[in-house]
Amino acid sequence: MSTVTLHIERFDPTVDRKPHMQTYVVEVAEDDRVLDALHEVRWHQDGTLAFRRSCAHGVCGSDAMVVNGHNRLACILLIKDVGHEITIEPMRGLPVLKDLVVDMRQFFDQYRSVQPWLHAEPPPPGSRERLQSPEERARYDDTTKCILCAACTTSCPVYWSNDRFVGPAALVLAHRFLFDSRDEATAQRHDILDGRMAAWGCRTAFNCTDACPRHIKVTQAIEEVRRDILRGGD
Ligand code: SF4
Ligand code: FES
Repeated sequence: MSTVTLHIERFDPTVDRKPHMQTYVVEVAEDDRVLDALHEVRWHQDGTLAFRRSCAHGVCGSDAMVVNGHNRLACILLIKDVGHEITIEPMRGLPVLKDLVVDMRQFFDQYRSVQPWLHAEPPPPGSRERLQSPEERARYDDTTKCILCAACTTSCPVYWSNDRFVGPAALVLAHRFLFDSRDEATAQRHDILDGRMAAWGCRTAFNCTDACPRHIKVTQAIEEVRRDILRGGD
């Protein structure tokens, strides 16, 4: 066992006028994750600390936060990889509800704005499947991995300065359906994406790609969406 010092941004809107940092020292095991240290604080030192987590295994996307200046999932980040002096803040660009919990409503509204579902007529009579070749499936495989953690969107400087920009995550999901060979709404999708608040808002800062815990090539996906718009989907 060893100790780790956590500097955590605290904000309770019912009593605080602005956020402040609070320091905790906790005992951790060699292979503990940042989430384990946060649990240690909440369960044994300070039950008022608010943060989200659900699966604790990098699947649900609920515990994205800023750790030592970078957007990360606390449940898959080993303490030994970040050091024993750790600063933890809420994701930037979304309103803070309490401590590390941000209001995700704007993020999910932007996600829904790109219509992240398949547009397709019912299959022909007698057929129950819409067939797709392995090559066609591979075309959008990378963007199926998104867990909607918002790490990309909240690391984007364009998003920080303009919350009308849909953000990288919405564009990743747009890519996932735009390049699905079964989808029949290419023109409609282009109309939604062809603007400065969508595909053309990206300034290729690459923060999103660096932040993604699923290692999705976010910037590349956005670039592919743009090229598809310019080509007219052919
Ligand atoms: S693209 Fe990556 S960082 Fe962005 S929401 Fe999806 S999983 Fe999270
Ligand atoms: S708690 Fe589910 S991804 Fe971390």
